[in-house]
Amino acid sequence: MSSKVLIIGACGQIGSELTAKLREIHGADQVVASDISYNNLAVVNSGLFEILDARDYSALKVCIEKYQIDTIYLMAAMLSATGEKYPMKAWDLNMDTLFHVLNLAKDGFIKKVFWPSSIAVFGTTTPKENTPQYTVMEPSTVYGITKQVGERWCEYYHNRYGVDVRSIRYPGIISWKTLPGGGTTDYAVEIYHKALSDNTYESFLSEDTALPMMFMDDAVAATVNIMQAPAENIKIRSSYNLSAISFTPEQIAESIKKQLPGFSMTYKPDFRQAIADSWPKSIDDSRAREDWGWKHNFDLEKMTEEMLTNLSKSEETVA
Ligand code: SER
Repeated sequence: MSSKVLIIGACGQIGSELTAKLREIHGADQVVASDISYNNLAVVNSGLFEILDARDYSALKVCIEKYQIDTIYLMAAMLSATGEKYPMKAWDLNMDTLFHVLNLAKDGFIKKVFWPSSIAVFGTTTPKENTPQYTVMEPSTVYGITKQVGERWCEYYHNRYGVDVRSIRYPGIISWKTLPGGGTTDYAVEIYHKALSDNTYESFLSEDTALPMMFMDDAVAATVNIMQAPAENIKIRSSYNLSAISFTPEQIAESIKKQLPGFSMTYKPDFRQAIADSWPKSIDDSRAREDWGWKHNFDLEKMTEEMLTNLSKSEETVA
């Protein structure tokens, strides 16, 4: 029986592009996309799709057995900003789904798991520049707490039960195909939509707030690379630091102005400022580079060019 992949949260920002890439790699009939609603027609119409709420263990198990799934990418989560509005919901969603997937692996129903962690595992007591792989981690958001605890459980399931779970700490992800939802780094996507529709953007983070970021193509490549690497190369079974670029709202605005000279920016920090202030400004990802050959491809200028070119071709802009 050939290997089959399930993506949970396949309609989301990363899930949708990961699904497309995995369908390209494995073939559309080997990749089952799932989400709680049909809210991304590109995903729904391009291969196998199931409505699935992965908080429901039985429903998840039925889906695994139906398609003989052996690899799961768990991309569903409530992110940092929304998580602060619904702390218990964020905890339940982020933890229940992870435990279900880890337990399916422990019990032999699936062989391999990808679970994303985040820069949100770090907190105000973490060194902010070039944040090391191993350092103080005192996350201040519910999202960050779920990711840090999740990392501990991933490592535990690997050490105790031999579960092949692999993880990276995504920075803010910038993309043009599917909008992000509920994150603190979302400004770096909204800004491109607003630059094209209104020629101006009001940032909810202050001008000098540097955060680690990455273009979607790099994030998808990293995800595919870590999953394809031989198991013995994956020496960290909590989660790998991963980095590409770091910039402030002012710097991204400058890169947009090079292509849209009339673009202007105003700043009105809200509750997300405190979240951003608790996160690193840049990340040391040398372990990912050494262990499984991670290399990023997009810098700020190349990403801006790609974002503006593709978004101006598509009609969708933030309302
Ligand atoms: N993009 C996420 C957020 O802002 C960080 O992992 O919540």
